[in-house]
Amino acid sequence: MTQRKYHLRILSEPEEFLAVEELQRLIWPGSETEVVPSHLLISSVKHGGICIGAYAPGDNDSNRDHLVGFVFGMPAIYHTPDGPRLMHYSHMLGVHPNYRNEGLGFLLKRAQWQMVRRQGVDRIAWTYDPLLSRNAHLNIAKLGAVCNTYHFDYYGTLRDSLNAGVPSDRFEVDWWVHSQRVNRRLSREARQPLDLAHYLAAGAEIINPSGLRSDGLPYPSKIRFPFDVQVSSLKAEEYPGILLVEIPSDYPRIREVDLNLAIEWRLHTRQIFPILFQHGYLVTDFIYLKGHPARSLYVLSHGEHTL
Ligand SMILES: CC(C)(COP(=O)(O)OP(=O)(O)OC[C@H]1O[C@@H](n2cnc3c(N)ncnc32)[C@H](O)[C@@H]1OP(=O)(O)O)[C@@H](O)C(=O)NCCC(=O)NCCS
Repeated sequence: MTQRKYHLRILSEPEEFLAVEELQRLIWPGSETEVVPSHLLISSVKHGGICIGAYAPGDNDSNRDHLVGFVFGMPAIYHTPDGPRLMHYSHMLGVHPNYRNEGLGFLLKRAQWQMVRRQGVDRIAWTYDPLLSRNAHLNIAKLGAVCNTYHFDYYGTLRDSLNAGVPSDRFEVDWWVHSQRVNRRLSREARQPLDLAHYLAAGAEIINPSGLRSDGLPYPSKIRFPFDVQVSSLKAEEYPGILLVEIPSDYPRIREVDLNLAIEWRLHTRQIFPILFQHGYLVTDFIYLKGHPARSLYVLSHGEHTL
Protein backbone atom coordinates (compact mmCIF):
# COMPACT_ATOMS: atom_id res chain seq x y z
CA MET A 1 0.00 0.00 0.00
CA THR A 2 1.45 3.42 -0.96
CA GLN A 3 1.57 5.70 2.05
CA ARG A 4 1.58 9.37 1.10
CA LYS A 5 2.32 11.74 3.98
CA TYR A 6 -1.05 12.23 5.58
CA HIS A 7 -1.71 13.37 9.07
CA LEU A 8 -4.82 12.87 11.12
CA ARG A 9 -6.24 15.24 13.68
CA ILE A 10 -9.28 15.53 15.89
CA LEU A 11 -11.44 18.34 14.58
CA SER A 12 -12.72 21.07 16.86
CA GLU A 13 -12.67 24.42 15.01
CA PRO A 14 -15.66 25.85 13.08
CA GLU A 15 -13.65 26.25 9.85
CA GLU A 16 -12.58 22.60 10.03
CA PHE A 17 -16.23 21.55 10.08
CA LEU A 18 -16.98 23.78 7.09
CA ALA A 19 -14.28 21.81 5.26
CA VAL A 20 -16.06 18.58 6.29
CA GLU A 21 -19.29 19.96 4.79
CA GLU A 22 -17.45 20.73 1.54
CA LEU A 23 -15.92 17.26 1.40
CA GLN A 24 -19.34 15.66 1.92
CA ARG A 25 -20.66 17.60 -1.10
CA LEU A 26 -17.84 16.14 -3.15
CA ILE A 27 -18.18 12.54 -1.91
CA TRP A 28 -22.00 12.35 -1.91
CA PRO A 29 -22.85 14.83 -4.68
CA GLY A 30 -26.32 15.74 -5.78
CA SER A 31 -28.31 16.71 -2.72
CA GLU A 32 -27.66 19.49 -0.24
CA THR A 33 -30.16 17.96 2.19
CA GLU A 34 -27.92 14.89 2.67
CA VAL A 35 -25.04 17.00 4.03
CA VAL A 36 -24.57 16.93 7.81
CA PRO A 37 -24.15 20.64 8.59
CA SER A 38 -21.22 22.07 10.55
CA HIS A 39 -23.45 23.29 13.41
CA LEU A 40 -24.61 19.73 14.09
CA LEU A 41 -21.05 18.40 13.90
CA ILE A 42 -19.95 21.08 16.37
CA SER A 43 -22.80 20.38 18.84
CA SER A 44 -22.00 16.70 18.67
CA VAL A 45 -18.23 16.91 19.21
CA LYS A 46 -18.76 19.20 22.18
CA HIS A 47 -20.81 16.41 23.78
CA GLY A 48 -18.85 13.23 23.18
CA GLY A 49 -19.03 13.00 19.39
CA ILE A 50 -15.77 12.38 17.55
CA CYS A 51 -14.80 13.85 14.19
CA ILE A 52 -11.33 13.05 12.86
CA GLY A 53 -9.90 14.55 9.68
CA ALA A 54 -7.16 13.26 7.38
CA TYR A 55 -5.02 15.94 5.76
CA ALA A 56 -2.73 15.82 2.74
CA PRO A 57 0.10 18.33 2.54
CA GLY A 58 -0.12 21.27 0.12
CA ASP A 59 1.92 21.16 -3.11
CA ASN A 60 4.36 23.84 -2.00
CA ASP A 61 5.14 25.96 1.08
CA SER A 62 2.48 28.58 0.41
CA ASN A 63 -0.17 25.91 -0.04
CA ARG A 64 -1.76 24.74 3.22
CA ASP A 65 -2.59 21.13 3.93
CA HIS A 66 -6.14 20.17 2.99
CA LEU A 67 -8.81 17.80 4.20
CA VAL A 68 -9.05 14.60 2.14
CA GLY A 69 -10.99 12.31 4.47
CA PHE A 70 -12.96 12.26 7.69
CA VAL A 71 -14.85 10.03 10.05
CA PHE A 72 -17.67 11.24 12.28
CA GLY A 73 -19.67 9.50 14.99
CA MET A 74 -21.56 10.20 18.19
CA PRO A 75 -22.41 8.60 21.53
CA ALA A 76 -25.53 6.44 21.39
CA ILE A 77 -27.49 3.96 23.49
CA TYR A 78 -28.16 0.29 22.89
CA HIS A 79 -30.33 -2.01 24.92
CA THR A 80 -29.19 -5.18 26.67
CA PRO A 81 -31.04 -7.52 29.08
CA ASP A 82 -29.16 -5.68 31.87
CA GLY A 83 -30.41 -2.28 30.74
CA PRO A 84 -29.20 0.46 28.41
CA ARG A 85 -25.51 0.77 27.57
CA LEU A 86 -23.40 3.38 25.93
CA MET A 87 -21.96 2.81 22.46
CA HIS A 88 -20.48 4.91 19.68
CA TYR A 89 -22.52 5.23 16.50
CA SER A 90 -20.31 5.98 13.52
CA HIS A 91 -22.39 7.98 11.10
CA MET A 92 -20.03 8.83 8.23
CA LEU A 93 -16.68 7.85 6.79
CA GLY A 94 -15.58 9.49 3.58
CA VAL A 95 -12.39 9.76 1.57
CA HIS A 96 -11.86 12.10 -1.39
CA PRO A 97 -12.09 10.04 -4.62
CA ASN A 98 -8.48 10.92 -5.58
CA TYR A 99 -7.13 9.54 -2.31
CA ARG A 100 -8.91 6.18 -2.09
CA ASN A 101 -7.32 2.73 -1.82
CA GLU A 102 -4.30 4.09 0.01
CA GLY A 103 -5.37 2.95 3.45
CA LEU A 104 -6.87 6.26 4.60
CA GLY A 105 -10.27 4.77 5.40
CA PHE A 106 -8.52 2.19 7.55
CA LEU A 107 -6.36 4.81 9.31
CA LEU A 108 -9.38 6.99 10.08
CA LYS A 109 -11.30 4.04 11.54
CA ARG A 110 -8.28 2.99 13.57
CA ALA A 111 -8.02 6.50 15.02
CA GLN A 112 -11.74 6.39 15.83
CA TRP A 113 -11.24 3.02 17.56
CA GLN A 114 -8.44 4.50 19.70
CA MET A 115 -10.56 7.49 20.72
CA VAL A 116 -13.61 5.41 21.54
CA ARG A 117 -11.56 3.04 23.68
CA ARG A 118 -10.37 6.05 25.63
CA GLN A 119 -13.98 7.01 26.26
CA GLY A 120 -14.43 3.63 27.97
CA VAL A 121 -16.93 2.42 25.37
CA ASP A 122 -16.72 -1.14 24.05
CA ARG A 123 -18.93 -1.13 20.97
CA ILE A 124 -18.96 0.90 17.77
CA ALA A 125 -21.77 0.32 15.29
CA TRP A 126 -22.45 1.69 11.84
CA THR A 127 -24.40 0.89 8.72
CA TYR A 128 -23.32 0.47 5.12
CA ASP A 129 -24.77 -0.80 1.88
CA PRO A 130 -24.05 -4.57 1.83
CA LEU A 131 -23.65 -4.46 -1.96
CA LEU A 132 -20.57 -2.23 -1.78
CA SER A 133 -17.64 -4.58 -2.07
CA ARG A 134 -14.97 -2.00 -1.18
CA ASN A 135 -16.80 -1.03 2.01
CA ALA A 136 -17.34 -4.68 2.88
CA HIS A 137 -13.65 -5.43 2.39
CA LEU A 138 -12.70 -2.53 4.64
CA ASN A 139 -15.35 -3.06 7.33
CA ILE A 140 -15.39 -6.83 7.60
CA ALA A 141 -12.03 -8.13 6.32
CA LYS A 142 -9.68 -5.31 7.34
CA LEU A 143 -11.36 -3.90 10.46
CA GLY A 144 -12.90 -7.10 11.83
CA ALA A 145 -16.47 -5.82 12.23
CA VAL A 146 -19.19 -8.51 12.28
CA CYS A 147 -22.82 -8.35 11.21
CA ASN A 148 -26.11 -10.12 11.85
CA THR A 149 -28.51 -7.21 11.40
CA TYR A 150 -30.22 -6.35 8.12
CA HIS A 151 -32.30 -3.18 7.73
CA PHE A 152 -34.77 -2.85 4.87
CA ASP A 153 -34.84 0.62 3.31
CA TYR A 154 -33.09 2.09 6.36
CA TYR A 155 -33.12 5.74 5.27
CA GLY A 156 -36.23 5.62 3.07
CA THR A 157 -35.49 7.53 -0.13
CA LEU A 158 -31.98 8.92 -0.35
CA ARG A 159 -31.40 11.73 -2.81
CA ASP A 160 -27.65 11.87 -3.33
CA SER A 161 -26.28 10.38 -6.53
CA LEU A 162 -24.50 7.43 -4.82
CA ASN A 163 -27.82 6.16 -3.46
CA ALA A 164 -30.80 7.53 -5.43
CA GLY A 165 -33.08 5.02 -7.19
CA VAL A 166 -32.31 1.88 -5.16
CA PRO A 167 -33.91 0.98 -1.78
CA SER A 168 -31.52 2.03 1.00
CA ASP A 169 -31.06 -1.40 2.64
CA ARG A 170 -28.17 -1.51 5.07
CA PHE A 171 -26.07 -3.92 7.09
CA GLU A 172 -25.58 -2.75 10.66
CA VAL A 173 -22.15 -3.88 11.78
CA ASP A 174 -20.74 -4.25 15.27
CA TRP A 175 -17.16 -3.45 16.05
CA TRP A 176 -16.29 -4.85 19.45
CA VAL A 177 -13.34 -2.64 20.22
CA HIS A 178 -11.75 -4.83 22.89
CA SER A 179 -12.23 -8.16 21.08
CA GLN A 180 -9.31 -10.30 20.04
CA ARG A 181 -10.66 -10.32 16.47
CA VAL A 182 -10.50 -6.52 16.19
CA ASN A 183 -7.21 -6.17 18.05
CA ARG A 184 -5.59 -8.67 15.71
CA ARG A 185 -6.93 -7.02 12.56
CA LEU A 186 -5.71 -3.61 13.70
CA SER A 187 -2.30 -4.77 14.86
CA ARG A 188 0.80 -4.00 12.82
CA GLU A 189 1.09 -7.71 12.01
CA ALA A 190 -2.43 -8.10 10.64
CA ARG A 191 -3.46 -11.67 9.80
CA GLN A 192 -2.93 -13.10 6.32
CA PRO A 193 -6.28 -12.75 4.52
CA LEU A 194 -8.01 -16.06 3.77
CA ASP A 195 -9.00 -16.48 0.15
CA LEU A 196 -11.73 -18.40 -1.61
CA ALA A 197 -9.57 -21.53 -1.90
CA HIS A 198 -9.17 -21.70 1.89
CA TYR A 199 -12.90 -21.52 2.45
CA LEU A 200 -13.79 -23.96 -0.34
CA ALA A 201 -11.20 -26.41 1.01
CA ALA A 202 -12.92 -26.14 4.39
CA GLY A 203 -16.20 -27.23 2.77
CA ALA A 204 -17.87 -23.81 2.42
CA GLU A 205 -20.47 -23.50 -0.35
CA ILE A 206 -21.39 -20.46 -2.46
CA ILE A 207 -25.18 -20.36 -2.22
CA ASN A 208 -25.69 -17.89 -5.10
CA PRO A 209 -22.79 -18.07 -7.61
CA SER A 210 -23.42 -15.12 -9.93
CA GLY A 211 -23.64 -15.26 -13.72
CA LEU A 212 -21.86 -12.94 -16.15
CA ARG A 213 -23.66 -10.97 -18.87
CA SER A 214 -22.06 -10.39 -22.27
CA ASP A 215 -21.29 -6.79 -21.23
CA GLY A 216 -19.25 -8.13 -18.31
CA LEU A 217 -21.73 -7.23 -15.57
CA PRO A 218 -22.58 -9.95 -13.03
CA TYR A 219 -26.21 -10.91 -12.56
CA PRO A 220 -27.81 -12.65 -9.59
CA SER A 221 -28.52 -16.35 -9.95
CA LYS A 222 -30.79 -18.84 -8.24
CA ILE A 223 -30.33 -19.12 -4.48
CA ARG A 224 -29.68 -22.59 -3.04
CA PHE A 225 -30.05 -22.63 0.73
CA PRO A 226 -28.41 -25.82 2.02
CA PHE A 227 -31.00 -26.24 4.77
CA ASP A 228 -34.77 -25.96 4.96
CA VAL A 229 -35.38 -22.25 5.56
CA GLN A 230 -39.05 -22.88 6.46
CA VAL A 231 -38.10 -24.85 9.57
CA SER A 232 -37.20 -22.55 12.42
CA SER A 233 -36.11 -25.21 14.91
CA LEU A 234 -33.25 -27.00 13.19
CA LYS A 235 -30.54 -28.50 15.34
CA ALA A 236 -27.21 -26.66 15.29
CA GLU A 237 -25.49 -29.56 13.50
CA GLU A 238 -27.99 -29.35 10.63
CA TYR A 239 -26.54 -25.99 9.61
CA PRO A 240 -23.41 -25.90 7.44
CA GLY A 241 -20.71 -24.18 9.49
CA ILE A 242 -19.69 -21.72 6.79
CA LEU A 243 -21.63 -20.28 3.83
CA LEU A 244 -20.51 -17.90 1.10
CA VAL A 245 -22.75 -15.26 -0.48
CA GLU A 246 -21.63 -13.59 -3.69
CA ILE A 247 -22.14 -9.88 -4.45
CA PRO A 248 -20.95 -7.76 -7.38
CA SER A 249 -17.40 -6.45 -7.10
CA ASP A 250 -18.31 -3.10 -8.62
CA TYR A 251 -21.88 -2.23 -7.67
CA PRO A 252 -21.43 1.53 -8.32
CA ARG A 253 -20.71 0.68 -11.97
CA ILE A 254 -23.86 -1.48 -12.18
CA ARG A 255 -25.85 1.44 -10.82
CA GLU A 256 -24.39 3.72 -13.48
CA VAL A 257 -24.89 1.34 -16.40
CA ASP A 258 -28.14 -0.47 -15.55
CA LEU A 259 -30.29 0.73 -12.67
CA ASN A 260 -32.70 -2.20 -13.11
CA LEU A 261 -29.88 -4.67 -12.62
CA ALA A 262 -28.80 -2.73 -9.52
CA ILE A 263 -32.35 -3.07 -8.13
CA GLU A 264 -32.38 -6.78 -9.05
CA TRP A 265 -29.23 -7.29 -6.98
CA ARG A 266 -30.84 -5.48 -4.04
CA LEU A 267 -33.95 -7.67 -4.20
CA HIS A 268 -31.83 -10.80 -4.61
CA THR A 269 -29.59 -10.21 -1.59
CA ARG A 270 -32.63 -9.15 0.44
CA GLN A 271 -33.84 -12.73 0.07
CA ILE A 272 -30.62 -14.11 1.48
CA PHE A 273 -29.10 -12.15 4.34
CA PRO A 274 -32.17 -11.63 6.57
CA ILE A 275 -32.93 -15.38 6.36
CA LEU A 276 -29.37 -16.40 7.19
CA PHE A 277 -29.32 -13.97 10.12
CA GLN A 278 -32.64 -15.36 11.41
CA HIS A 279 -31.10 -18.81 11.35
CA GLY A 280 -28.13 -17.74 13.44
CA TYR A 281 -25.48 -16.91 10.84
CA LEU A 282 -23.02 -14.07 11.39
CA VAL A 283 -20.94 -12.28 8.74
CA THR A 284 -17.35 -12.87 9.85
CA ASP A 285 -15.19 -12.34 6.78
CA PHE A 286 -15.14 -11.04 3.23
CA ILE A 287 -13.24 -12.30 0.20
CA TYR A 288 -12.25 -9.98 -2.62
CA LEU A 289 -10.58 -11.66 -5.58
CA LYS A 290 -9.04 -9.14 -7.96
CA GLY A 291 -8.98 -10.21 -11.60
CA HIS A 292 -11.21 -10.41 -14.66
CA PRO A 293 -13.85 -10.82 -13.56
CA ALA A 294 -13.17 -9.82 -9.96
CA ARG A 295 -15.27 -11.68 -7.40
CA SER A 296 -16.57 -10.66 -3.99
CA LEU A 297 -18.07 -12.96 -1.37
CA TYR A 298 -19.30 -12.62 2.17
CA VAL A 299 -18.37 -15.38 4.60
CA LEU A 300 -21.08 -16.29 7.10
CA SER A 301 -20.39 -18.56 10.05
CA HIS A 302 -22.74 -20.53 12.25
CA GLY A 303 -22.03 -21.11 15.93
CA GLU A 304 -18.35 -21.43 16.68
CA HIS A 305 -17.32 -21.98 13.06
CA THR A 306 -14.71 -19.51 11.85
CA LEU A 307 -11.48 -19.94 9.93
C1 LIG B 1 -15.42 3.59 1.77
C2 LIG B 1 -14.24 4.56 1.75
C3 LIG B 1 -14.31 5.49 2.92
C4 LIG B 1 -12.94 3.74 1.81
O1 LIG B 1 -11.84 4.63 1.87
P1 LIG B 1 -10.37 4.19 1.40
O2 LIG B 1 -9.42 5.20 1.87
O3 LIG B 1 -10.39 3.88 -0.06
O4 LIG B 1 -10.19 2.83 2.24
P2 LIG B 1 -8.89 1.90 2.37
O5 LIG B 1 -7.89 2.25 1.31
O6 LIG B 1 -8.44 1.92 3.78
O7 LIG B 1 -9.52 0.46 2.13
C5 LIG B 1 -10.13 0.15 0.92
C6 LIG B 1 -9.81 -1.30 0.60
O8 LIG B 1 -10.73 -1.78 -0.37
C7 LIG B 1 -10.00 -2.39 -1.44
N1 LIG B 1 -10.84 -2.28 -2.63
C8 LIG B 1 -10.83 -1.38 -3.63
N2 LIG B 1 -11.82 -1.67 -4.51
C9 LIG B 1 -12.45 -2.76 -4.03
C10 LIG B 1 -13.55 -3.53 -4.48
N3 LIG B 1 -14.20 -3.23 -5.59
N4 LIG B 1 -13.94 -4.58 -3.70
C11 LIG B 1 -13.29 -4.90 -2.57
N5 LIG B 1 -12.24 -4.21 -2.10
C12 LIG B 1 -11.83 -3.15 -2.83
C13 LIG B 1 -8.72 -1.60 -1.50
O9 LIG B 1 -7.73 -2.31 -2.21
C14 LIG B 1 -8.42 -1.48 0.00
O10 LIG B 1 -7.95 -2.70 0.53
P3 LIG B 1 -6.39 -3.06 0.76
O11 LIG B 1 -5.86 -2.00 1.66
O12 LIG B 1 -6.46 -4.42 1.39
O13 LIG B 1 -5.77 -3.03 -0.59
C15 LIG B 1 -14.23 5.38 0.41
O14 LIG B 1 -14.27 4.48 -0.65
C16 LIG B 1 -15.40 6.36 0.29
O15 LIG B 1 -15.30 7.50 0.72
N6 LIG B 1 -16.50 5.90 -0.33
C17 LIG B 1 -17.70 6.74 -0.56
C18 LIG B 1 -18.44 7.03 0.73
C19 LIG B 1 -18.77 5.78 1.52
O16 LIG B 1 -19.20 4.75 0.99
N7 LIG B 1 -18.59 5.87 2.85
C20 LIG B 1 -18.84 4.77 3.79
C21 LIG B 1 -20.24 4.67 4.24
S1 LIG B 1 -20.78 6.11 5.16
